Amino acid sequence: MAELMDKIVSLSKRRGFVFPGSEIYGGFASTYDFGPLGFLLKKNIEKAWRYWNVESRTDVVEIEGAIFLHPKVWEASGHVGGFADVLVEDMVTHKRYRADHLIEEAGILENAGALKPKEIDEIIGNHHLKSPEGNQLSSAKLFNLLVKTHLGPVESDATVAYLKGESCQNIYVDYKSVQETTRRKLPFGIAQIGKAFRNEITVKNFLFRTREFEQMDMQYFVRPEDADNYYDEWKKNRDAFYTECMSFKKENIKWRQHAPDERAFYAKDAWDVQYKFGELGFQEIEGVHNRGTYDLDQHAKFSGQDLSYFDEETKKRFNPAVVECSGGFNRLFLATLFEFYKEEKERTVLAFPPRLAPYKAAVFPLLANKPQLVDKAREVYDALRKNFMIAWDDRGNIGKRYYSQDEIGTPYCITVDFDSLEKDNVTVRDRDTTTQERVAIKDLDSFLREKISMS
Ligand code: GAP
Repeated sequence: MAELMDKIVSLSKRRGFVFPGSEIYGGFASTYDFGPLGFLLKKNIEKAWRYWNVESRTDVVEIEGAIFLHPKVWEASGHVGGFADVLVEDMVTHKRYRADHLIEEAGILENAGALKPKEIDEIIGNHHLKSPEGNQLSSAKLFNLLVKTHLGPVESDATVAYLKGESCQNIYVDYKSVQETTRRKLPFGIAQIGKAFRNEITVKNFLFRTREFEQMDMQYFVRPEDADNYYDEWKKNRDAFYTECMSFKKENIKWRQHAPDERAFYAKDAWDVQYKFGELGFQEIEGVHNRGTYDLDQHAKFSGQDLSYFDEETKKRFNPAVVECSGGFNRLFLATLFEFYKEEKERTVLAFPPRLAPYKAAVFPLLANKPQLVDKAREVYDALRKNFMIAWDDRGNIGKRYYSQDEIGTPYCITVDFDSLEKDNVTVRDRDTTTQERVAIKDLDSFLREKISMS
């Protein structure tokens, strides 16, 4: 039997959620494009995230920063010097692997991410660890993950630029401007959904680990002495985001604290939110970090600018500390597919809450060869389309249309039949219960609105 991941990859491609990137050229380096349904689902997930993190609060504002940042940003942030994974090479095939992944997959250690190259060499020697092809491995080396390019027509050291290794750096760089223009007092947050790029040694598991992805950041600026309290508060908030806002089951979410030697160079404390990705088990979906004053201290030092905050209450001047909630959009999207994918006897269902579903309803004429039914169904479709994303289907029999909509997560199927012509009402079939009810055409708009807001 196919594994859940294979089924999700196949459905995603077949129904237009996610296509392999550059597919007509044979694909390219684990890149992916969101198809029409994936795009709609993406926008709905972003909307839910934005509502939860920004719109429903009064203390968080959102920005959208550029992908190219001054190269000094990446020196200040520590990425040029310290953003590296350890790689080993198969001595025969010359394929490169992340050493910590090989050690974890061989069951030698559960978390090998903090090991230094020397420690890895010792483990490889002691355990006679070979490459997945069974060949000898090279000694371990550090490999920087920043994606480097040159801007402008000349390629020289002076034109080096990096794609964003973590999206949040715009937030620290813009912190002072946001604080001054919005006249914010601490504590307050800056949110951003933005691209990040990492030259990952190995990419795998569909959208889970890619070299181009999106991050959903909420960086909360606080007085340094308040950081621990806000850190605890935001951890609770993130738990609620996944179980309440995204409607994920509690048992699919787990938390894992990083050991001191495993933390990113900027973190004073770090927890991963993990999601249970079927057969892959619990895997990181978001990093919640107590970054202290590291970021503003570093940017103040490297830019020579004063980024300090004057606290009217305490009459003290200091660089604020940062509590970071950094979620991976692509992993959240994948988790949403895993969470709501269901197989029943005769059908596959993506049981999305209506507010997340790409289409809120589909409209069908009962028979496609009866012009009066088609015309009436078109009227219903055109009226609803003004306010919602609505699908139209007049192919095949009604049962097939239902199953086709179930598979893409459409919560309601609206059928115009002969009674509709006389009584101005329609059949509305519920995706989850498969029960049907008659609803007056004039009430359809409020019916959908209510179902979406309740979900
Ligand atoms: N600013 C903090 C930061 O970047 P991170 O734990 O490295 O922290 C945050 O990344 C999130 O970004 C991760 O929890 C994950 O969801 C996502 N992420 C990181 N690397 C990724 C990759 N190669 N592919 C897809 N998502 C990734």
